[in-house]
Amino acid sequence: MTVSEQETHSESLGGPTRRDFLYLATGMAGAVGAVAVAWPFIDQMRPDASTLALASIEVDVSALQPGMSLTVKWRGKPVFIRNRTDKEVEEAKAVPIAELKDPVARNANGEEAAQATDLARSAGQGKENWIVMIGSCTHLGCVPLGQAGEYGGWFCPCHGSVYDTAGRIRKGPAPENLHIPNYAFTSDTVIKIG
Ligand code: FES
Repeated sequence: MTVSEQETHSESLGGPTRRDFLYLATGMAGAVGAVAVAWPFIDQMRPDASTLALASIEVDVSALQPGMSLTVKWRGKPVFIRNRTDKEVEEAKAVPIAELKDPVARNANGEEAAQATDLARSAGQGKENWIVMIGSCTHLGCVPLGQAGEYGGWFCPCHGSVYDTAGRIRKGPAPENLHIPNYAFTSDTVIKIG
């Protein structure tokens, strides 16, 4: 089932609207698939198929319009992918670093000590609207809710941590911004995570 079919299906059932996140398990037809990974040359060192399937995933994000997000499962964890609106990006950009509880980008694709600017948290120049993060609250690991909370970013209902539209912790007990895994766009519409 494609993302848009799922939306139509859930909307017809009175379920979540387009803006609500969808949860797609790894391997679900069409939306998420395990990447075909080249076998290592030394056969004895070859990890088994299930390990490879979890090592990285490719996600087709072509159905995600601005304002929509998707949650996928990667290495047993939820990963949030959000196509942010221009307004959401502008709001995040307008926040001075000095106001941030955690001024570090926490982006595995960048330098360890990089500042948590909106650009450093996003998919980068030209793709600032995209943000990809591990969906695990940095307090005690609950899964925050998307498009929620005071800043319209994410809200963790467990103990009230509030993240902004760049996934940066702004209020509550969580000590760090939501972590960003290794990922890359392999085309305009496909993201490889891991
Ligand atoms: S686990 Fe998220 S606020 Fe405690």
